[in-house]
Amino acid sequence: MKRNHYPIEKIREAFPALQRIENDYFAGYFDGPGGTQIAKSVIEAMSNYMKNGVANLGGQSATSKETEEIVEQAREAVGTLLGTEQENIVFGANMTTLTFQIARALGYTWGDDRGNIVVTEMDHHANIDPWITAVEGSNITVNTICVNPETKTLQTDNLAELINEETKLVAIGLASNAIGTINEVVPIIRRAKEVGALVALDGVHAIPHFTVQFNDLGADFLFCSAYKFFGPHVGIVAVKQDIRKELTAFKLDPAPTESTKVLERGTINFEGLVGVKEAIRFIASIGQGNFLREQLNDAFKRIFEYEQFLANRLREGLEKIEHITLYQADKDVFKTPTVAFKVAGMNSRVVCDYLMRNYSLHLESGDFYAKSLIERLGAEEQGGLVRAGIAPYNTEEEIDRLIEALQNIQQHIAQ
Ligand SMILES: Cc1ncc(COP(=O)(O)O)c(C=O)c1O
Repeated sequence: MKRNHYPIEKIREAFPALQRIENDYFAGYFDGPGGTQIAKSVIEAMSNYMKNGVANLGGQSATSKETEEIVEQAREAVGTLLGTEQENIVFGANMTTLTFQIARALGYTWGDDRGNIVVTEMDHHANIDPWITAVEGSNITVNTICVNPETKTLQTDNLAELINEETKLVAIGLASNAIGTINEVVPIIRRAKEVGALVALDGVHAIPHFTVQFNDLGADFLFCSAYKFFGPHVGIVAVKQDIRKELTAFKLDPAPTESTKVLERGTINFEGLVGVKEAIRFIASIGQGNFLREQLNDAFKRIFEYEQFLANRLREGLEKIEHITLYQADKDVFKTPTVAFKVAGMNSRVVCDYLMRNYSLHLESGDFYAKSLIERLGAEEQGGLVRAGIAPYNTEEEIDRLIEALQNIQQHIAQ
């Protein structure tokens, strides 16, 4: 698929927030890794659901039946997006809450067992701390896969030592939300499965950028969050069927006992689920194909290629600016279009403020909750890193505006 077949105009029209004008510029959103803008079709579908009359599940009213249908349609669409059966899909408030919930349930099951769990330094702490908390005060210790600060990839030479016969669970992210490194998870999952450990994958940063197939990966949990892919704030986890049945569920006595529903506490976010389904349909609309899976595959191929084109343009532009240090893995390492950097002598918050005030460019700074990674990279001083996260609606003009702004910052420092 050639880049010029990418329907950028059509995609931009689908996002009302791109009409926002600040200082005579259209706002340039580079904060997708913190949460993308929301597609118009998502906003409208959510609003229509609420306008049409709502109800809780299990009633005799037409609105209750419609709501039941909405939940099932959302489960089906997410199952297709994540490459798994709809029964494996569980909804919750957000990824962090779901991870704590599942970690607690597993920790309860492990009880007084001896063993270890494995986390990584690369991850967002939502895929570290819930697991550590779950084994605190128990006989289960924590092993950590470190990051090589030179290569900015995971250090896996001692994998057989870290993931061993005692390992109960390995928690790893598919891609870094701070520096974009796409982790090579296949050998890690293979090793975990060799020793009978569970695998929890954090797909929050990966899912908006490339196709991920849960059943093919052979992991036990895959977490993501719809607000990172043009939808509302709904957390999602795919849970393998046999694990779902084993998990100790903390449930209300009269609540449903089916293994999917038992993991969903109280009344879930119905209007959010309308939006989740619509967000997936929106992604699919970027691609072609006869059915949803085919359209999504094609869409992600186009998105990946376009986003990589923009990210490379940005990387090349920034490499030429003397006062900028990029924090990224080598060219031969696959990365999401998330570009992190520092401006010499400037606090990263000040950089973001400058970009916002003068160029209407929305970037974020800090540790992005990937605190261990930022510390390992020695980047925590002066407000952490600046992050430019590219989304399917970004343009070459915005990339060039960002490069120009950062060139001007350089002059600003020199003055
Ligand atoms: C990689 C990654 N994992 C987990 C999370 C937490 O997701 P949530 O906000 O849905 O709890 C984020 C949020 O930024 C993230 O980027």
